[in-house]
Amino acid sequence: MLTAEEIVRVRTSFDLVFPNANDAMTAFYDRIFELAPEIRPMFPADLSALKQDFISKLAVLVGSLDPATGLLGGADVLGRNHQRYGARAEHYPVVGEALLWSLARGLGPNWTDELEQAWRKVYGVIAQRMIAVGDAPPPPFASPSQPM
Ligand code: HEM
Repeated sequence: MLTAEEIVRVRTSFDLVFPNANDAMTAFYDRIFELAPEIRPMFPADLSALKQDFISKLAVLVGSLDPATGLLGGADVLGRNHQRYGARAEHYPVVGEALLWSLARGLGPNWTDELEQAWRKVYGVIAQRMIAVGDAPPPPFASPSQPM
């Protein structure tokens, strides 16, 4: 369970990285493909739009975290999208490690053990939700092609 203190910690650190988001995202995707070169073909050749999308979405997710309500803005749609991209449960730890690595690199001396633990938990919460939704059958009315 995430504590209010962990959420504050994660949000504060996110605000420190955000001004250098492009650097952090370049390091993040480089690291993913270093750790798991076999998943490179799943991604577009040009990653510039994806870097923007990822950091913006992460901002929304981190900003909406609420342990009391379990709110997690947009995670369900994201989980379903990722099912279509071919992302599977076993890919999430690699992406998580790459994210932590790029945050540590971006934050330098501001990266502490407590902060790492908090980010691990936050990533776990987001990933679990995305995986669970991706594994579930689509909700009714999800597809515009369904007969009325
Ligand atoms: C917490 C974890 C993750 C977050 C927040 C995240 C976020 C995003 C976002 C915002 C996009 C842009 C498109 C969209 O909004 O649907 C995207 C695209 C993508 N993600 Fe993720 N992602 C995560 C984990 C993963 C994992 C584990 C994989 C597995 C390989 C993955 C593979 C992809 C691919 C292949 C695309 C894009 C494809 C395309 O444009 O064709 N992502 N991701």
